Amino acid sequence: MLELKDLNVYYGGIHAIKDVNLSVEQGEIVTLIGSNGSGKTTTLRTISGLEKARSGSIVFKGKDIGKFPASEIVKLGISHVPEGRRIFGTMSVLENLEVGAFTRRDRENIEKDTKKIYSLFPILYDRRYQNAVNLSGGEQQMLAIGRALLSRPELLLLDEPSMGLAPIIVKEIFSIIKDVNNEGTTILLVEQNANMALQCADRAYIIKNGRIELEGQALDLLDNESVKNAYLGG
Ligand SMILES: Nc1ncnc2c1ncn2[C@@H]1O[C@H](COP(=O)(O)OP(=O)(O)OP(=O)(O)O)[C@@H](O)[C@H]1O
Ligand SMILES: [Mg+2]
Repeated sequence: MLELKDLNVYYGGIHAIKDVNLSVEQGEIVTLIGSNGSGKTTTLRTISGLEKARSGSIVFKGKDIGKFPASEIVKLGISHVPEGRRIFGTMSVLENLEVGAFTRRDRENIEKDTKKIYSLFPILYDRRYQNAVNLSGGEQQMLAIGRALLSRPELLLLDEPSMGLAPIIVKEIFSIIKDVNNEGTTILLVEQNANMALQCADRAYIIKNGRIELEGQALDLLDNESVKNAYLGG
């Protein structure tokens, strides 16, 4: 579904992404794991068209989208839940969800899909008329995911959905990620929480200083000595 080939991304003189090769097959959950500043967010932003690669290619469903504007990439079926959630605090939960349907014209289906989001996240239904700023961190993450799903993505990009959440809420978010995947959405998940991400994903890539260090089946990496030492607390 998605293939990054020899991707290089710079911020001025900073070489943030170095010859990255990464693929995601339809139906998979793939995780990209790395510590602070390793290039996870940059990778997702480049896929979404928010940063431009200096070289290499990004192919989505057979199309090279590397030069496409972000608005076009959403329409092709890639939706991005950004780091830090970026919900609109002074808008209601419902209004935030409506933003996610912005590029769609099929009004009837939007209503149906909104109901589906509410069944996935009952708390969002209970709070639909409240300002998003009043939601807890976990609820805001659910809203950010719900909003992204309303663009009907085939591929969902998640940037550190567990960030800043209590362990029990993190569990809930990962279980929702599984549900979303089971309903047919392919997922590329960026995480610092290697333990949870590896338990959730089918395959994984480990990125360090902008370079892919290791890749494999998620369960194999959970068992890998160097991964254990570097990312799973020994
Ligand atoms: N807008 C920017 N301008 C200049 N350098 C940047 C910019 N954004 C990121 N970088 C640099 O690019 C590298 C990769 O950053 P990136 O945000 O992609 O890492 P990350 O893995 O998402 O980190 P974190 O876990 O902290 O979110 C870092 O060295 C970072 O300082
Ligand atoms: Mg980041």
